[in-house]
Amino acid sequence: MALLPILTAPDPRLKKKSKPVEQVDAGVRRLMDDMLETMYAAPGIGLAAPQVGVLKRVIVVDVSEKDSPPAPHALANPEILWVSDHDNTHEEGCLSVPEHYADVVRPAEVRVRYLDRDNEIRELEADGMLATCVQHEIDHLDGILFIDRISALKRNMILRKLLKEKKLAAKEAAPA
Ligand code: NI
Repeated sequence: MALLPILTAPDPRLKKKSKPVEQVDAGVRRLMDDMLETMYAAPGIGLAAPQVGVLKRVIVVDVSEKDSPPAPHALANPEILWVSDHDNTHEEGCLSVPEHYADVVRPAEVRVRYLDRDNEIRELEADGMLATCVQHEIDHLDGILFIDRISALKRNMILRKLLKEKKLAAKEAAPA
């Protein structure tokens, strides 16, 4: 297994639409394992393949409590089959939008069909944090970040700060 570098916004690769995998083979399984390891190390509760520069429809999530045993989910080609009429508001963050958080409104419950790490078709019914997290990660596969779901004013403020930090980091890394 390996830790993968995580892209941060603004980055054109985070705005692209990812392609479905043909099947979950050894290569996709390795990607899932590497993504889980990268997510736990960050630490985070979800990660989508485009965040590590791989434009494939693969996500991993684990919303288990700190003191509970891990509950990893790895989903290929996740597809939302159904969403509830009622919404939930959660404060969201993202490993690609470091240090910034905002309230996002999403359907409170979802049902998702996907391929698991054995290439079997599965369905997952989720509510609470898991429902939020799965929708946030599926958004990444369509080039959508949580900041695209908040006001333009707040989004632009966050993007300006992130860009400034990137420029500063690039300057520090450049030879004098
Ligand atoms: Ni994210």
